[in-house]
Formats: sequence, C-alpha cells, structure tokens
Amino acid sequence: MTLRPLLQVTGLRAGYGLGEVLRGVDLAVGPGELLAVLGRNGSGRSTLLQATMGLLPARGRVRLDGTDLGPLAPHRRARLGLGYVAAHRAVFDRLSVQQNLQLGILPARPDAPRPGWTESRVLDRFAPLRQRLHAPGWALSGGERQLLAIARTLLGNPRALLLDEPTEGLAPRQVDATAALLRQLRDDGMGIVLVEQRLQFALDLADRVAVLGDGRIEFTGSPAELGERDAVSARWLAP
Ligand SMILES: Nc1ncnc2c1ncn2[C@@H]1O[C@H](COP(=O)(O)OP(=O)(O)OP(=O)(O)O)[C@@H](O)[C@H]1O
Ligand SMILES: [Mg+2]
Repeated sequence: MTLRPLLQVTGLRAGYGLGEVLRGVDLAVGPGELLAVLGRNGSGRSTLLQATMGLLPARGRVRLDGTDLGPLAPHRRARLGLGYVAAHRAVFDRLSVQQNLQLGILPARPDAPRPGWTESRVLDRFAPLRQRLHAPGWALSGGERQLLAIARTLLGNPRALLLDEPTEGLAPRQVDATAALLRQLRDDGMGIVLVEQRLQFALDLADRVAVLGDGRIEFTGSPAELGERDAVSARWLAP
C-alpha cells in the first residue's frame, strides 16, 4: 500500500432501514492500484460502492486524497475526482450517445489526470461509441451501454474509480477489452475499486483484494495470498 492512500474508507456503516449491511468497513486504494472487492451475492459490495459515492446515507469516513467527503452529495464527490459506474449502467434512453457523454463532462480540476479525457479522446478509445454517436440510449446493446457508462464517467476525469460488475452480461471479447481498459486506467495512475463476480477476472487484474463478509472486510492481501488462504475462500467466497 502506498504511504498516502488516494481513497480511504474507514469505519463505514450503511444499510437499508433498520438492517445494517456494512458494519464498519475499512479499505484504501492508492494511485495506480486496482483493489478488487470480493464477496458472496448479497454481501454488500454494491452497498459499499454506493455508500462511498454518497448515494446512501452512511456513517464513518471517506477521504479522497486526504479530503473528507463525509457530508458531500454524490455530484460534489464526482467534482472532486471520485467516479462511479453503477452495475445497472445508467444510460439516458431518450438521449443520444453524444448527449449522454456530454452529461459526464465536469469542470476541469488542477489535479486532474494528464492527459485528461476529452470527448474526442474518449471516442478514439471507445471506437464503437463513435459509430453510434447519434443513436438513442435505448437502441444500444448491453456492451455498448457498458462502454457508454464507463466513458461518461471518464469524462469527469476521476482520480479514483468505483466500478460495480463491469463485465456482467458481456461476451468474452468484451470482457477482454474491459480488462485491457482497466489496466490502462490503472497504469495511468487511477485508483480503482472493482467489484466483480468473475473471480478469475478480478484476481488476474487486482493488485490487492479485499473480501467482504458479514459487514466487514475479512481479508486483504494480494491475489496470491488469497490463493493460500483456503479457509477465507471457503468461508466468504464459496457459493
Ligand atoms: N434497496 C434496498 N433495500 C433493502 N435492502 C437492500 C437494498 N439493496 C440491497 N439490499 C440488501 O442489502 C444486502 C447487500 O446488498 P448488495 O446489493 O450491496 O450486495 P452485493 O454484494 O452487491 O450483491 P449482488 O450484487 O450479488 O446482489 C442484501 O441483503 C440485499 O438484499
Ligand atoms: Mg451488487
């Protein structure tokens, strides 16, 4: 772990109504690091990303490069450089691809990554979107929606990115393309928190893994260290 984490979550508690799903979650990701958050279905991985983004009421601390995001609404967190791509790949169905992309553009920040993501750079990197620039959101395939959701978030030039199951429903070729993209973003210095159901995909990409179970992080370490801890996998990851 780097000395100063880019994104640091401490003692995070969140849930729905009276039911607490996260009961004090701690995690940290550095610049240029990909952390995979693993856990069973229903273990609270999506809740963790949503609470970190400020989409759910939560107690505890979320810091981005030392700044406490505690009281800030999601759009303020985005402006400070926290990106989030939801599992459902929110796309505005009645807006064109181009209009969807333009919604992701945020005011430039002095600390934004260089070179920054602009509309033309995004369309170069995500060629299928250029071909569909004027298509309405509703006409996109699942894979195109995923590209659009990620591309729109990149246009906000996040320093840290929360990704919820980006490969869900994708064809193998698209899964490989997603892996290549995540490697590129990580190598560019982004800190990435990846929630992913495909275990091998996550382990291949991750610098570190965190296992969520029973409302807390039960294990953190390298993918190789997780491989040596059969008991952790059996207790918290096995179906
Ligand atoms: N809007 C909601 N209202 C009430 N309970 C919810 C809501 N969303 C999730 N939960 C519950 O919170 C717990 C954690 O759900 P969450 O979606 O965070 O898990 P997950 O690890 O992302 O699982 P998966 O993506 O496989 O469904 C589950 O018990 C789930 O039923
Ligand atoms: Mg989920």
